[in-house]
Amino acid sequence: MNLLSLQQKKQNREKIAVLTSYDASFAALSEKSGVDVLLVGDSLGMTIQGHSSTLPVSMTDMQYHTRCVANGTSNVLIVTDMPFGSYQQTPEQAFENAAVLMTAGAHMVKVEGGTIMRSTVKFLVERGIPVCGHLGLTPQSVHQLGGYRVQGRSEAAAKQLLEDAKILEEAGAGLLVLEMVPSSLARTISEALTIPTIGIGAGVDCDGQVLVLQDMLGIYAGKSPRFVRNFMQDNSSIQEAVTAYVAAVKNKSFPAAEHSFE
Ligand code: KIV
Repeated sequence: MNLLSLQQKKQNREKIAVLTSYDASFAALSEKSGVDVLLVGDSLGMTIQGHSSTLPVSMTDMQYHTRCVANGTSNVLIVTDMPFGSYQQTPEQAFENAAVLMTAGAHMVKVEGGTIMRSTVKFLVERGIPVCGHLGLTPQSVHQLGGYRVQGRSEAAAKQLLEDAKILEEAGAGLLVLEMVPSSLARTISEALTIPTIGIGAGVDCDGQVLVLQDMLGIYAGKSPRFVRNFMQDNSSIQEAVTAYVAAVKNKSFPAAEHSFE
């Protein structure tokens, strides 16, 4: 799997299944079950480390978990989150840290933020590092956003999100995560871009979907967000649950209206 094949999937209207992954065993199982992209998410701050946000996650943590996921897989595309504080200062700082993650086995890095990230995305892409953008609810800004809430609901905020998405694409981003935005806005953004969009709480019209592994297996101790479906409920093994998730994304039965926001 590579960026070109993801682009082709968008053109062919074939949905892209993405799942978070933090270790070699689950990475291998997910790859075997047909997941297209594994996201080494800084959500590991919550799922693995037990923090209440992604903010305490370090470069050392992301490097270690990227290496674990890379060691367990051979063909899946690996996207690694750049942790809080590792890329916001300057494009040069972002390059230095992105290079560490690429050396650990990532094929692409993910950064949160819109127009403010334009020069950083351009700087990385021009130097051979593929970048995934992340708009909407950006968890590293949770304190500024006032909690984990739906973004882009007002006309002005929706306009800004669309503008941010176009700017990230123009700067060279190859993929874009849209988190907790109204379905109709996610559809508009997905149609306006040539790069694939990957939604989480963003409705069925994104080009792909992502969930946190522990959420979709129903083993995360915290309260499950509205956009999560527990795939273990109707399946008797983890492998079956992940395979069912991939099938549900591909046949558009997930996410349903009950997992989305208007
Ligand atoms: O860290 C993560 O797992 C993420 C997803 C929620 C998109 O960024």
